[in-house]
Amino acid sequence: MKVLVATDKPFDQKATNGIRGILDAAGYELVLLEKYTEKQQLLDAVADVVAIIIRSDIVDAEVIAAAKNLKIVVRAGAGYDNIDLKAATAANVCVMNTPGQNSNAVAELVFGLLIYGARNFYDGSSGIELKGKKLGIQAYGNVGRNVARIAKGLGMELYAYDTLCSDELIAADDVVPLHTISELYEKAEILSINIPATPETRRSINRDLLNLLPKGAIIVNTARKEVVNEEEMMQFMQERTDIKYLTDIKPDNHEEMCKKFPGRYFSTPKKMGAQTAEANINAGIAAANQIVRYLKTGEERFRVN
Ligand code: 3PG
Repeated sequence: MKVLVATDKPFDQKATNGIRGILDAAGYELVLLEKYTEKQQLLDAVADVVAIIIRSDIVDAEVIAAAKNLKIVVRAGAGYDNIDLKAATAANVCVMNTPGQNSNAVAELVFGLLIYGARNFYDGSSGIELKGKKLGIQAYGNVGRNVARIAKGLGMELYAYDTLCSDELIAADDVVPLHTISELYEKAEILSINIPATPETRRSINRDLLNLLPKGAIIVNTARKEVVNEEEMMQFMQERTDIKYLTDIKPDNHEEMCKKFPGRYFSTPKKMGAQTAEANINAGIAAANQIVRYLKTGEERFRVN
């Protein structure tokens, strides 16, 4: 039986070797499709596999329909907004993610981007320090918690807003829990966006919300471009010349943002948050183990559909 690893953005070699070892030991054959450029390559590759490991690769209804033997898809990572859950469920395909496995890597990149912005993109001019600054963490999940841990070492003042997290849990980390999104945006001299893309969060970061940010605020988005209303972000950046926006997910209007806001806007060319050897190994190996357990024993931990 074949298990496909389909990654437009390949895993570190050590992760791929680890996945191969787990699949070999379980009697499955690893098929690798890396850096593919056409959807047809994915459609061809899924034709005879029972399981797929992906990253941000799109698994839509067409991919599910082309995978006639498919039993399980594991998203090696946290967000599964790239998978058509309805189509998977209808085809009796189990979908899982590997929560927490790459969150330290993403959280570390928050600070990579942040220091670049705080020091004016290393242009030689005088920047700002993070010590003593108020950091607003939008969503206190695995990434949010790691952001808080690192920020404490930098001496930042921490605030978080998360409707799914209890005050006790947030406060236990010496982070102040806030109860409205407005309060978070009013406080955040630095804002770290860590929310998933869901029907509720899509385009939810709009001009009204952004306008609550204090003067000189820096926004860091390592979540999804879809959670930002991109036209309104552009308008906001035009009106609020004091604001910087750093993102790990290139917006659709990236070229225009670059042109209009030099020194205030930056995007990584490709999503880099989870792109470390450690995160690849953690998430890739977790995905392989989850597949083996599901196929051998039916274990459904981390199932999302
Ligand atoms: C995730 O949802 O786990 C992160 O956004 C990382 O995505 P990637 O695996 O495509 O780098």
